[in-house]
Amino acid sequence: MRTPIIAGNWKMYKNVAEAMDLANEIKRSVFDITNVEIVIAPSFTNLGDVGEMLIETNVGLASQNCYWESEGAFTGEVSVPMIKSVGCGYIIIGHSERRKYFSETNETVNKKVRACIDGGLIPIMCVGETLEEREAGKTLEIVKTQVEGGLAGFDEKYLEKLIIAYEPVWAIGTGRTATPEQAQEVHAMIRALLKELYSEEMSSVTRILYGGSVKPDNIESIMREEDIDGGLIGGASLKSDGFVDIIKTTGDLYAKKGTDA
Ligand code: 13P
Repeated sequence: MRTPIIAGNWKMYKNVAEAMDLANEIKRSVFDITNVEIVIAPSFTNLGDVGEMLIETNVGLASQNCYWESEGAFTGEVSVPMIKSVGCGYIIIGHSERRKYFSETNETVNKKVRACIDGGLIPIMCVGETLEEREAGKTLEIVKTQVEGGLAGFDEKYLEKLIIAYEPVWAIGTGRTATPEQAQEVHAMIRALLKELYSEEMSSVTRILYGGSVKPDNIESIMREEDIDGGLIGGASLKSDGFVDIIKTTGDLYAKKGTDA
């Protein structure tokens, strides 16, 4: 069975004091959870302090972006070795907000995934269609192109730890979640694509997260779907109660799945 992941993307929220408070509350509430991989992604300015607080805890740290060169005259950018040095184990790459507002493309995503893996960190590569693309019946085609483009040129062994997050753009921050069936359809397609591009083994071990208006009251129905291995949570990760609820519900469900299997 794939270990579920619940990751909180804090986006551009929280100053350092607020981030420390939230991380501390989360850390204290989930210390005894062993069957969910827990990750939080504060902004760059908070990674150092939060990272220090998370040392030797079961809460992992992610950055929300990276640059693909390891150093150089790239004003304003942050490299993978720098991100690693503050305790991050993961990097969110190609979030739709970065694609939309900062012109990221499948090609830049590909370079960042390479830099992330070369630097020893785990990429959480985001894909997802816009409302317009969904309504034009292009969802599967768009997501396929994003997965293929993001992973172009990598072999299976290289992608051992890859995490993919499917986040339909129209469901992000809108309160309009994809139905579990809509999400499952795309997750199953991504898994089938991984099998076609790599192997059955690779497709069965890769974790695929769903993101887009995930809340404590809908996580259970989403997590019941066969190909959904966790959530990338935006708004609901900014308060410890809701985020911890999502983690606990996921852990309970996973424990139950284990007994059923
Ligand atoms: P919301 O949970 O706020 O819809 O955001 C999802 C997201 O973009 C996570 O990366």
